[in-house]
Amino acid sequence: MKKKVTVIGAGNVGATVAQRLAEKELCDVVLIDIAEGLPQGKALDLYEASPIECHDAKVEGCNSYDASAGSDIIIITAGIPRKPGMSRDDLLKTNMSIMKHVTSQAAKYSPDSILIIVSNPLDAMCHVAFETSGFPKNRVMGMAGVLDSARFRTFISMELNVSVESTHAFVLGGHGDTMVPLPRYSTVAGIPITELLPQEKIDALVTRTRNGGAEIVNLLKTGSAFYAPASAAVEMAESILKDKKKILPCAAYLEGEYGIDNLFIGVPVKLGEKGIEDIIEINLTASEKTALAKSADSVKELVAELKKFA
Ligand code: NAI
Ligand code: 2OP
Repeated sequence: MKKKVTVIGAGNVGATVAQRLAEKELCDVVLIDIAEGLPQGKALDLYEASPIECHDAKVEGCNSYDASAGSDIIIITAGIPRKPGMSRDDLLKTNMSIMKHVTSQAAKYSPDSILIIVSNPLDAMCHVAFETSGFPKNRVMGMAGVLDSARFRTFISMELNVSVESTHAFVLGGHGDTMVPLPRYSTVAGIPITELLPQEKIDALVTRTRNGGAEIVNLLKTGSAFYAPASAAVEMAESILKDKKKILPCAAYLEGEYGIDNLFIGVPVKLGEKGIEDIIEINLTASEKTALAKSADSVKELVAELKKFA
């Protein structure tokens, strides 16, 4: 039977996710937004591209949730994006109430679905979705690490003039300024970049990765990145829909792993048909552990702030 994915939020990220899902013919797609006409118009436009793009994925847009019933995956991109000068954390309050509303509707119509959260501030929004849905922890996850790692891989490939396909990178931690790119686990054809680049070059690539979201915001001026974020969310969805069991860095609910408890934060996980099927614990040096703990502290602060607004 054909799989079904609902994308909530038909803005830049959501519409691009819908496009990539359909063009890869991974599933039928339901696109939902609060703005009247927007999801309907974008969905019809995408559907009308299907004869040329040669796929048979159905794309439907709506403002209500009935069409989403029985979805295998719900990708939540609803919210307001970061504007220049605005931190991800400024988004907390507004996006929290949007997240509560859309998650409760999505969970009602698709109680067996897997939730992939994209809206910012990412790790905190995962907590809202987890608590609102009541879903088990393997069925709630956040997209950030795949994007941050893709940015790191792009910068490594630019620096070394090698194919991006020969690169691999891991970025752990929260999706914020405290994210933890791991050069020791970032490789070109299996060779750690610590053996290929001097420390000051690696530091520059790490800094550019940490500021990757802000770099795009400063260029666009009217919104944030969406092509790479959409690709990242679709890579996660594809691994689940096809039960590929890819190991990808995703925001997952930790209960003791990496010494972190009751918190969503980016770590390597195995993604298959059950969602998060395993959390992979890699060995970290003392300084990497400290950086991850610092990142966890900043997510904890945001989660504590959520309680103030609740
Ligand atoms: P956008 O403004 O283009 O789209 C957001 C859409 O959400 C709008 O169409 C809006 O009408 C809709 N929306 C607002 N409230 C809603 C509700 N209650 N129900 C349904 N739809 C609702 O924004 P964009 O660029 O698509 O970004 C979406 C979110 O994703 C933002 O929070 C952004 O910060 C975040 N983001 C996260 C990334 C990550 O790495 N986790 C990467 C890129 C964006
Ligand atoms: C990004 O990293 C806005 O969080 C988003 O591009």
